[in-house]
Amino acid sequence: MIGKIKNFFSRNDNPLVSKNIRFSYADEDVLKDINLVTKKNKIYSIIGKSGSGKSTFLKLIAGVISKKHRGKIRIFGKHRFLNKNSFGFVSQEPGFIPDLSIENNIKISGLNYGISEKKALERAKDLMGQLKLNIDIDRKPMDLSGGQKTRLGIILSILHDPRMIILDEPFVGLDFKNRWLLWRFLENKRKEGKSILLTSHLLTEIQEHADKIIILKDGKVFFKGQLEKLKNKLNMNYIYEVRFSWLAQSKWEKLKNYCNKKNGVDIIEKYEKHCVFSLKSEEVKKKLDKKFKTIGLKDNIINFREPNLDEIFLKT
Ligand SMILES: Nc1ncnc2c1ncn2[C@@H]1O[C@H](COP(=O)(O)OP(=O)(O)OP(=O)(O)O)[C@@H](O)[C@H]1O
Ligand SMILES: [Mg+2]
Repeated sequence: MIGKIKNFFSRNDNPLVSKNIRFSYADEDVLKDINLVTKKNKIYSIIGKSGSGKSTFLKLIAGVISKKHRGKIRIFGKHRFLNKNSFGFVSQEPGFIPDLSIENNIKISGLNYGISEKKALERAKDLMGQLKLNIDIDRKPMDLSGGQKTRLGIILSILHDPRMIILDEPFVGLDFKNRWLLWRFLENKRKEGKSILLTSHLLTEIQEHADKIIILKDGKVFFKGQLEKLKNKLNMNYIYEVRFSWLAQSKWEKLKNYCNKKNGVDIIEKYEKHCVFSLKSEEVKKKLDKKFKTIGLKDNIINFREPNLDEIFLKT
């Protein structure tokens, strides 16, 4: 019993609990049933094809969309309106007040979070140092470059030092150096005990830096976890690229019949005599090589390696 009560409270303190979230725009069901719980001190990255509802989901969590949704959203165990200062939302389009200086934008953002002007300026200066944003705060935000605006948008959204940082495509417009810097910044925040939830299309970088991947598909969470688990789920632990010296239609049909879930082989691509397979294990490769021989196919191995997240994503 005590264990159960403890469990309830620890679950209750999760950065995000979203249960059966459904949301539609006028004529389109965007989120059909999203169930997602995130744990503290981790970087979660939501991926999904363009239009899969990533931004819509983040905006719902942050309370930016006023249109009604179904289901329950809790942030650190509370309704988001009762826990507004526990998270910061960095939207894809930073909401500066264009006619005001950067300094005044900082002061106003601070006031929105109930922070004094002095404190807001101190926090902004510190964050600008961490994100290597060397700008004159007397200027207007619209005078900044794209990458500078992105970093300023992040700073304005986390002046109140929230426990969870939610970012919608924060790497857009940043060059490699600044993307690296932002990943380091987010990793440092994780070390400080913050929870991060972000969206991005930069799959290679996500593979390197995120603790957990969430895939949105058809309005639902298709997958949540680490890359190894995703590879297993999709039977895609290896990529095997082969060029046959000749591939008659009858032999191709036999090979196609062999490539199925039971045998742990899938055909990802075929172009003339060039085939790319995904394999469940090394053992499966040995069996497939034997199959090539039985069918009478002569092969020329081009590649046998682990897949990257881009290739895995193509298969989802
Ligand atoms: N304000 C809106 N009114 C009507 N439909 C919208 C609105 N905003 C988004 N949509 C639609 O909802 C769907 C999901 O959009 P959303 O912006 O959440 O996708 P996304 O996964 O963030 O895409 P991307 O990777 O391109 O940013 C899309 O089909 C989009 O056209
Ligand atoms: Mg989006």
